[in-house]
Amino acid sequence: KDQQQADLLSLYADSAKMYQHILVNTELGEPALDYLHQHGLDDQTIATFGIGYAPKNRLLLDFFKEHDVDYQLLRQSGLFIENQEGALRDRFVDRVLFPIKDASGRVIAFSGRILTKSSDEPKYLNSPETKLFNKRNVLFNFDIARKAVRQRKSIVLFEGFMDVIAAYRAGIQNGVASMGTSLTNEQIYMLERVTDQLYIAYDSDLPGQKATDRALKLLAGNSRLNLGVIQMPDGMDPDEYLRHAGQEKFVQVFADGKQTPTAFEMQFLRHGLNLQNTQDQLTYIGTVLKQLAPLGSNVERDLYLNQLVAEFGIAKDDLKQQLQSLIGQQS
Ligand code: UTP
Ligand code: MN
Ligand code: MN
Ligand code: MN
Ligand code: MN
Repeated sequence: KDQQQADLLSLYADSAKMYQHILVNTELGEPALDYLHQHGLDDQTIATFGIGYAPKNRLLLDFFKEHDVDYQLLRQSGLFIENQEGALRDRFVDRVLFPIKDASGRVIAFSGRILTKSSDEPKYLNSPETKLFNKRNVLFNFDIARKAVRQRKSIVLFEGFMDVIAAYRAGIQNGVASMGTSLTNEQIYMLERVTDQLYIAYDSDLPGQKATDRALKLLAGNSRLNLGVIQMPDGMDPDEYLRHAGQEKFVQVFADGKQTPTAFEMQFLRHGLNLQNTQDQLTYIGTVLKQLAPLGSNVERDLYLNQLVAEFGIAKDDLKQQLQSLIGQQS
């Protein structure tokens, strides 16, 4: 059984090398290499993340057959699709491949980004779940990020591969990705083992903000991590913002743009409300007060109360009174 795991790991390592070779050294890889260069990745970054390319014409299967790799091992690897007759063919075709590594940096799966836009294929295709790969238990770049945690004393959580890589290029190397927008309890547990400060830097589009809200609630209930939120301007994701605004402005958002969870929520709760409308104002103020009630610090509560006073011109004593009755209901 251990032998089988070792065999799988070496199969993934060989596959990663093969795909990387195709990207970097062959004509087949040129469109993919152009794509990556256009997105600001230099050859050093491509090597650091072990990025590769699965070409249009399938070749991984032939490569392993030539080397007499065990058929059962190939079947179990998730690198191939099996048809009704039991014949295998390469799973990844015409995709830029990001190796997904475990906490010790061993390749356990791949995710492939489509190069040519398509309406019926997903933008990213992941390896299926295998003995070694359970998506819930994995954070992209955790192996590299945990080394950077010592200097930065925090971890930054992104949505996607390209966001982690963008941040890395800009010198922010303590980034990981949940690979999509739903954070799991297993991932939270991994984070807690290496840090006590987490910044959520999901995409700032509406799905990203909704995911941030969900993640904050999950984290508040299931972890002791100190939390902050970092949002790129104008609905962009971090990778887009770096390319749009340049490294200096990008790094500045990380330095100056940290929000508390409450400050984020006070922004987020505005969605769908028209704050010119008194009914919506009351809804908003009521929801904000509910968020303030469980806060541990009176100073922090006071800060947000002052913001409500300034924005809506309500007497602070009235807000305090309503807040007190909410706090009373909690205990
Ligand atoms: P996004 O939908 O934000 O990707 O998904 P994106 O920013 O447009 O992708 P790029 O920058 O153009 O390449 C964020 C992450 O969610 C996962 C991937 O890990 C992706 O990086 N995802 C997304 C999938 O697993 N499958 C998908 O079809 C889409
Ligand atoms: Mn997104
Ligand atoms: Mn995105
Ligand atoms: Mn993106
Ligand atoms: Mn995109």
